[in-house]
Amino acid sequence: MEFEKLNGLKRTHKCACITKEDIGKEVVVMGFTDSVRNLGGLIFINIRDISGVIQTVYSTDDAEMYEKAAKVRGEYVIAVVGKVAARDKAVINPNMKTGEIEIIAKELRILSAAKTPPFYIVENSDVKEELRLQYRYLDLRRPDMQRRMLLRSQVAKIVRDYYEENGFIEIETPILVKSTPEGARDYLVPSRVRNGCFYALPQSPQQYKQLLMLSGMDRYFQIAKCFRDEDLRADRQPEFTQIDLEMSFVDEDDVMTVNEGLLKRVFKEVKGIDLETPFLRMPYAEAMDRFGSDKPDTRFGLEITDISKVVEGCGFGVFTGALEAGGSVRAINAKGLGDQISRKNIDALGEFVKTYKAKGLAWIKVNPDGVQSPIAKFFEKDRLNAILKATDAKENDVIFIVADKNSVVYASLGALRLEIAKRYNLIDNSKYNFLWVTDFPLLEYDEEEKRYVAMHHPFTAPKDEDLELLDTDPGKVRAKAYDIILNGVELGGGSMRIYNSDLQQKMFEVIGLPAEEIEARFGFLIDAFKYGAPPHGGMAYGFDRMLMLLDGCDSIRDVIAFPKVQNASELMTNAPDVVDAKQLEELGIAIVKSEE
Ligand code: AMO
Ligand code: AMP
Repeated sequence: MEFEKLNGLKRTHKCACITKEDIGKEVVVMGFTDSVRNLGGLIFINIRDISGVIQTVYSTDDAEMYEKAAKVRGEYVIAVVGKVAARDKAVINPNMKTGEIEIIAKELRILSAAKTPPFYIVENSDVKEELRLQYRYLDLRRPDMQRRMLLRSQVAKIVRDYYEENGFIEIETPILVKSTPEGARDYLVPSRVRNGCFYALPQSPQQYKQLLMLSGMDRYFQIAKCFRDEDLRADRQPEFTQIDLEMSFVDEDDVMTVNEGLLKRVFKEVKGIDLETPFLRMPYAEAMDRFGSDKPDTRFGLEITDISKVVEGCGFGVFTGALEAGGSVRAINAKGLGDQISRKNIDALGEFVKTYKAKGLAWIKVNPDGVQSPIAKFFEKDRLNAILKATDAKENDVIFIVADKNSVVYASLGALRLEIAKRYNLIDNSKYNFLWVTDFPLLEYDEEEKRYVAMHHPFTAPKDEDLELLDTDPGKVRAKAYDIILNGVELGGGSMRIYNSDLQQKMFEVIGLPAEEIEARFGFLIDAFKYGAPPHGGMAYGFDRMLMLLDGCDSIRDVIAFPKVQNASELMTNAPDVVDAKQLEELGIAIVKSEE
């Protein structure tokens, strides 16, 4: 087929931007063919562009054009010149933004034909994600994907405007950097000029943004690409985007306040929601005790109660054993769910907590005719009543109890809480519950490596009042660190930084870095602090996560134009891929075939 050219034809309107006001006007629209209906004598073509869809009409009055319209198939790219007209009352489509009007075509140009796409280009497609990603350019034609890309661009603009109004300057930091220790594995890039040496792709701009504070840039921000070679999940990509910022001469409160302002602006402009600030601030220890998680979803109750004291010295060995080993016994009250949670459901929840290493799930159900529980036999009446009292148990409640070391109790009850809320529809999806979790531990003990590691990163400052514990009891030191949580998702996090070379040196020592390695990897940073360093701190948001939560989709893949899948490959281009022997030779690299 011979295709027509634009030849100077200019679009006058985007499809869905035409309104009743335009009735009688001649317009030119261009786009993809959304649908064709041939009624014999009359053809209707819905044409789609990024704004939406409008109906165009072709009658046999113009035989040549009618014939051409009859050739048009789905996804053909066309240009239509015509007059806007009101639709007959009987055929008004209330589900369509342009449902009251149509374009009576005067000229039709077929700019490009299209093969039948492998899936329908419709909103809320239920097509397998693998196929969508393989043909991502078609997937991105779908209205919901286009809406998400627009949202991404809109939010980026709000972010830039807001920070600039607040004295931040946008500075780009390098992508080819030195390997950093931020928890995940680095992506490495071989150097051609210095064979055997590698750049790393940045896990975040952390060190550069701190150095920018030392440079007197005062306030920095960047919408920054970050790279982490870690196991993927629904809210993790190997290549993702942060909204990254850093501020001089501030404390935690200043960083949180400026950022509450940003979130307020974003939610107002995107969702029309007035967020109330300041957000709730909760120390890490409290978040763990009440919710078993450092990113609590506070949209529902089911809080955790520590019943260790109540069961101390009881007759049930599982409980006393956990206490004697330094652990705890804690409970969740599934209030009013007794008639919904069957024995079978309880067993399923018991299996569920095992994935979090709990050895079992004890339970007490308060029925109208008394309590039902496999562990009741281990308790005298008073003790059982004390447990019921401590957990505020009433008729139709079910109490779930886990006894173990604290980390297992928190992880399993924290997850159980979310699971019960999901299964029994306790979550109000219209809520946006923001929360700062503060006062994180500075360090956590890595059982495998047999040393302390930084919980956030090793540039995070300890709380002044805990400084002395750094020598005596490092695990107890709290950090000037904070995370921003939205509906149980870690949206972002940051901290006040160390800006004193001695303290930075010491921090590296505490996490077990040998002196030579400190010098080789961080010598420049420690040195930099010796030339005058303003107190500074900042944070970074996961931009993709923010968009996922704003849009309400389930995965950050849906807000990223070209995301990667589980094994970190990209299905459309098939990256990563093998390279030429010549390229490898230049880099001084030989591939070692693994045994398998
Ligand atoms: P952190 O490592 O906590 O902090 O990262 C900040 C935020 O980035 C998001 N995020 C991710 N999003 C998608 N895919 C991933 N693989 C991924 N990893 C992290 C999360 C997280 O809260 N330099 C520090 C920040 C600072 O201290 O200023 C940092 O990178 O939403
Ligand atoms: P048993 O006597 O071992 O059959 O256990 C009685 C009940 O205690 C069962 O319902 C188990 O699921 C539960 N249970 C076992 N271990 C634990 C634990 N660590 N924490 C809470 N409940 C447990």
